Amino acid sequence: MTDLASLNAQALAAIDAAASLDALEAVRIETLGKQGSVTALLKSLGQMSPEERQTQGPAINGLREAVTSAIAAKKDALESAALNARLATERLDMTLPAPDAAAGSVHPVSQVMDELAEIFADMGFAVAEGPEVEDDWHNFTALNIPETHPARAMHDTFYFPEEAAVDGKRMLLRTHTSPVQIRTMLSQKPPIRVIAPGRVYRSDSDATHTPMFHQIEGLVIDKGIHMGHLKWTLETFLKAFFERDDVVLRLRPSYFPFTEPSAEVDVGYTLVNGKRVIGGSEGWMEVLGSGMVHPRVIAACGLDPNEYQGFAFGTGVDRLAMLKYGMDDLRAFFDGDLRWLKHYGFAALDIPTLSGGVGA
Ligand code: PHE
Repeated sequence: MTDLASLNAQALAAIDAAASLDALEAVRIETLGKQGSVTALLKSLGQMSPEERQTQGPAINGLREAVTSAIAAKKDALESAALNARLATERLDMTLPAPDAAAGSVHPVSQVMDELAEIFADMGFAVAEGPEVEDDWHNFTALNIPETHPARAMHDTFYFPEEAAVDGKRMLLRTHTSPVQIRTMLSQKPPIRVIAPGRVYRSDSDATHTPMFHQIEGLVIDKGIHMGHLKWTLETFLKAFFERDDVVLRLRPSYFPFTEPSAEVDVGYTLVNGKRVIGGSEGWMEVLGSGMVHPRVIAACGLDPNEYQGFAFGTGVDRLAMLKYGMDDLRAFFDGDLRWLKHYGFAALDIPTLSGGVGA
């Protein structure tokens, strides 16, 4: 009996002293485990005489129950202590005052894209999207860019490895937003009026080129569309964007495989204290590529070019932002320098509207 009593006291003391769940588990194995001291006593019942077993049985079982419930109680206590400790470290002081002003700002590229969406929405254009990882057909072939066109050369286009082909097609990072023209014509019926802003990629890097930059595409497909519609749309857009009535456009004949005829659009500027300011016609800056959608492109999308015509244009969003807001190094757009973002960024709640002024 004294054996049982001292074993009981010993076990309870060990349980009490266990400072962690691991230590407690060790005590459980020492007592109640297969080779444990209490388990050994339970096994010894088998060798006892019936009289002995009658007194020892309840005592040994009592010991097992006492140890079992002491372990369970200690386990509960250790677990709730651990939970409390965790809650204490995760505590948030909700009474701390909020910062006076929002810390973030809207990047000029996002701002300009919002301005463009607002301006074109007013002219009845919806926003269309396409994937940045494109296939050759959407990015080139359907846009009437033959295999031999220099835009396909490795130094311009980021191609994925042959092994990463999808459905047997070698993928690439889209080099312009023009594939969205194709995707839109394939998925919507004319009349179509969309703009497609987004990221594009070319293997190029200096003060005026970054490997990733932003373009916005415009596409109109309907019956009886002509160059006059294109010119009016661009003029209206550029006047609204630069917020000046004296914006002068100059359309120069040009070449893009997916438009015929094609025109590059220059916008006139005036020199004010040696700085170029949009408006007037002292000098010219190229801002846009455009043209009437090539009949072959319309046909590639399953439409009859004798029935439907349209115009398209594409321009660099980063460049538009630089011209409007006066930054001169494109690379700074993507450096993530907080001082730059603070200086050129826009307030998050300053959403461009035509009535309130798209310039924010
Ligand atoms: N995709 C052309 C480029 O990236 C721009 C463009 C778009 C030209 C639509 C004409 C029509 O340079």
